[in-house]
Amino acid sequence: MKHLAILTSGGDAPGMNAAIRAVVRTAVYEGLRISAVYRGYQGLIENDIVEVGARSVANIIQRGGTILRTARSKPFMEPAGRATAAANLAAHDIDGLVVIGGDGSFRGAYRIFEEHGFPVVGIPATIDNDIYGTDVSIGFNTAINVALDAVDRLRDTAASHDRLFLVEVMGRHSGHIALHVGVAGGAEAILLPEVKTGADEVADMIVKAQERGKSSSIVIVAEGAYEGGAMNLQARVRERCGYEVRTVILGHTQRGGTPSTRDRVLASRLGFHAVRTLLDGGSGVMVGVDKRGIERVPLKDVWEKHKDIDWELVELAGVLAI
Ligand code: F6P
Repeated sequence: MKHLAILTSGGDAPGMNAAIRAVVRTAVYEGLRISAVYRGYQGLIENDIVEVGARSVANIIQRGGTILRTARSKPFMEPAGRATAAANLAAHDIDGLVVIGGDGSFRGAYRIFEEHGFPVVGIPATIDNDIYGTDVSIGFNTAINVALDAVDRLRDTAASHDRLFLVEVMGRHSGHIALHVGVAGGAEAILLPEVKTGADEVADMIVKAQERGKSSSIVIVAEGAYEGGAMNLQARVRERCGYEVRTVILGHTQRGGTPSTRDRVLASRLGFHAVRTLLDGGSGVMVGVDKRGIERVPLKDVWEKHKDIDWELVELAGVLAI
């Protein structure tokens, strides 16, 4: 292996830049050439590929977003698009690819590995933390800290005004963010896509909490937990309980900003191990992390298998909200 390429794909996540830096510098340290692909798979198809060096990634470890930019590419979903991408990689004499992204990005990575025999390694990065094969993905820690900071601030107003706040956090298909923020923020209820809860049930929870002597409440709502989101829920809940209700949608604020220490360290480890994996002949895998350390997980498993939420946290959240 002599020449690697790196790209970021899917939604941006804080810590992607730290991973880019780690991949580039490990490659240079190992005597390899390394090229940056801009705008994800779309840039791969359009030949937006530039050779970089160790100094190209100076002063990015602390920056959110991705300096390589990212895109969701429809042409790459078709075999013809992937054939163009593989031809562009070959034209640059590139013989290994590192893909930083979520499970949608790994589906594309697996296809180029399977159809063209191209060596590919994935690095998990999404604030949703819903990637099978890794306990944690790059960006999750920063996102939950940003959301928790907002919840703590909102609690001041909730308590001062005897109000109910519905706080919508990201997670279209998974409740990892909501669950962690809800437990850490002491929420009265946490609504998850994995546990469908109706508006009446939510209102019942709030009314019962009032009867137990609570004078304000915070409910964390994952984006995908309720049809139409927290705004829709607000109208239904307001009718049933005596509180003034306010809804706050944290949205993309959770995706940006300075990555936390944890995310920078995780990104540095995964970037380093992604290059080592390619050098060892590993391919068609994602580097993930669990209690045993760094793991190499087949890409096919990553997008075919589902990562469940932590049901222990679901149970204890209910107990501690008493
Ligand atoms: O990065 C994942 C995610 O944050 C989801 O939780 C959310 O539903 C989605 O991205 C929204 O992304 P976009 O607005 O870029 O489509």
